[in-house]
Amino acid sequence: MLMPEEDSSLTKLKVLDLFCGAGGFSFGFEEAGFDVVAGFDFDKEALLTFQHNHPNAQAIHHDLSQPIPNIENFKNVDVVIGGPPCQGFSISGKRDSTDERNQLYKAYLHTLEHIQPKAFIMENVPNLLAMEGGLLKDQIIADLSAMGYLVTYQILNASHFGVPQNRRRVFLVGMQDSYFTFPIPTTNDIINCCDAISDLSDSSIDDGDSYPMPPATEYQRLMRQQSKGIFNHEATKHTDKTKSIIALVPDGGNYKDLPLDLQGTRKVNIAWTRYASGKPSPTIDTGHNHHFHYQYNRVPTVRESARLQSFPDSFIFKGKKTSQYRQVGNAVPPILAKTLARNLYTILKKDIV
Ligand SMILES: C[S@@+](CC[C@H](N)C(=O)[O-])C[C@H]1O[C@@H](n2cnc3c(N)ncnc32)[C@H](O)[C@@H]1O
Repeated sequence: MLMPEEDSSLTKLKVLDLFCGAGGFSFGFEEAGFDVVAGFDFDKEALLTFQHNHPNAQAIHHDLSQPIPNIENFKNVDVVIGGPPCQGFSISGKRDSTDERNQLYKAYLHTLEHIQPKAFIMENVPNLLAMEGGLLKDQIIADLSAMGYLVTYQILNASHFGVPQNRRRVFLVGMQDSYFTFPIPTTNDIINCCDAISDLSDSSIDDGDSYPMPPATEYQRLMRQQSKGIFNHEATKHTDKTKSIIALVPDGGNYKDLPLDLQGTRKVNIAWTRYASGKPSPTIDTGHNHHFHYQYNRVPTVRESARLQSFPDSFIFKGKKTSQYRQVGNAVPPILAKTLARNLYTILKKDIV
């Protein structure tokens, strides 16, 4: 557990997670003491993970381009978290309401309209703010304001909140009675990759086996709380060629450190990137295999990626390995989610008697 809250009145606040994935966002809310009642997603493997780690919540398989049936069953929900993926969403020219890309957003508004939660938090990529020259963001805020919400938004970098990862995401928060106050970022205690994962081995560890070495940092101790052994630490077996190329890249380096004839072997600008041991990791992605461990000649394991996302070791990922990487890379880092949840509680608790 990541420092559970002690205020038992928090359990009165119920949360619904839309597009819940594995449930990083939900997990942070649970850790802050909220009660996550259900998560919706159409990815069955992600839902397996969600259910395993949120045994008291319903994991509901549903295509959210369609309104949620029996939505009135969730009228007691206080907070809706998660938001429609807005990439591809368009308001320009024709705002065609039958356009498939707009269905997710419409269904999301439909949910808010019917539940009328005290608050919602939508997470998205920062580019959401720039899309269509800012008009998309303006339209979203106008729609939500028309429903009675006071909406504010901010881009947060997870590394400024105790997560060992430079991950920037925008959070739009709507509340019925006041504006949300965002947590204040700090660069005082930045956690780096080495702090986060140096206690995990180069080789695979069978699920449930014990740790190969004692924790070396406070962060590692925090991640191990409640853990019953290591899970999801299966090292990828690369070809000898891949291993010999990445071996040429120093800690924190990338394809530019390779001999000229090898620089173009992967046609992406993040090719052959090795994490820097002394810095937070770059954004954990959904498994493109271009980021390598700062020391070992392989990509990070699911567990190492989960650590860099601030999932504790007790949070176990289900499904195929490719799906596990996707689930981890998609998630809101639980420690950041918990920080947001605590701020939200501070504001909402005024209404709880
Ligand atoms: C960014 S991820 C959410 C991650 C989650 N908030 C977390 O913290 O773990 C977006 C999720 O939306 C889901 N999704 C996308 N389109 C969907 C749809 N039409 N219906 C249901 N879920 C959908 C994906 O399967 C994915 O799990």
